[in-house]
Amino acid sequence: MTEWPLNLAAFESAARECLPRMVYDYYAGGALDEITLRANREAYDDIALRYRVLVDVGRRSLRTDVLGREFETPVLFAPTAFHRLACEDGELATVRAAKTLGTLMVLSSLSTVPMEQVIAQYEHVWFQLYVYRDRGLTRELVARAEAAGAGAIVLTVDAQIWGRRERDVRNQFHLPDGINVANALPGGFGDMPEREGDSGLAAYVNSLFDPALDWEDVVWLKSLTKLPVLLKGIVHPDDARLAVEHGADGVMVSNHGGRQLDTACATIHALPDVVAAVEGQVPVFVDGGIRRGTDVIKALAYGASAVLVGRPVLWGLAVGGSAGIVAAIRSLHTELDVALALCGATEPARVTRGILAG
Ligand code: FNR
Repeated sequence: MTEWPLNLAAFESAARECLPRMVYDYYAGGALDEITLRANREAYDDIALRYRVLVDVGRRSLRTDVLGREFETPVLFAPTAFHRLACEDGELATVRAAKTLGTLMVLSSLSTVPMEQVIAQYEHVWFQLYVYRDRGLTRELVARAEAAGAGAIVLTVDAQIWGRRERDVRNQFHLPDGINVANALPGGFGDMPEREGDSGLAAYVNSLFDPALDWEDVVWLKSLTKLPVLLKGIVHPDDARLAVEHGADGVMVSNHGGRQLDTACATIHALPDVVAAVEGQVPVFVDGGIRRGTDVIKALAYGASAVLVGRPVLWGLAVGGSAGIVAAIRSLHTELDVALALCGATEPARVTRGILAG
């Protein structure tokens, strides 16, 4: 592609054109009526900026600290499954884009390229964990991630039971031949069930992931690894406090991009109470519906250390592979840079709550 789409919405439109319907729907969709999916995005539109003026913004940077490491940007890659549905190179293309952008990639448990191959490409990859009923397999995944060089484990806590995603049910979502869950070990876990008049993914998850996961498992997970453990999928301040009490090294405010519990609150509305609850003891991140530079600045103003984007990475990947992701995320960076300057801030760490009206 010689000319990239102008913004993330245009990237989504272009991706929709080039992806098979089943794949586009899987990436784009949410649970039930997709109320949370829409709310995540629209909630940002209702927050007004009360910008500051006459600050020297001649020198600006997007550099951001994440768990003691400096990145080029506060926009990180959220874990999303099955990148080979969008592009032959799959997660290898994504990790190359993360490296080019100088950002962090969280690699999904449901990667379609084995984690060792992805992590070997770049020093800043974290591994997202789904806990399988088979705890031996789970332990093995954590050990492999650590041995491969992952920088942290991100435990997803909002998906013990799979959300009801009607687009996937309608399309009988399944993985085409030649694409599978590459991180699972030999012994039958790697193959998705065939269509069963339902989403094949829902069948896979509900049969293999552990719905009995509880707070003691956070302690168990911490005992398995020296890596920092972050919890992804928290929206309630009481859970944020429990996360800190159980040793979490960070909290990700997320509702899985509106794919799990429909009518769950927009993440940007959940963020301030979670930030207050953790009292600065651990960093707080947020994802869901971030599509504009001004969305990023609002999340930072509410106290997020950084944000994550899920679908925008997939749209870039579908449109132009690794280069497409870089172009998509750079469009967001351009907007963020303008927004920072016009709010009177020279870098993400200087964004304060005071720029939010009301
Ligand atoms: C996801 N998400 C997700 N989360 C996770 O912890 N493990 C996973 O494997 C996946 N897979 C996945 C696939 C697809 C297609 C999507 C869209 C999302 C959730 C993801 O990490 C993140 O929370 C949301 O995508 C953030 O919302 P936006 O940026 O997509 O609006």
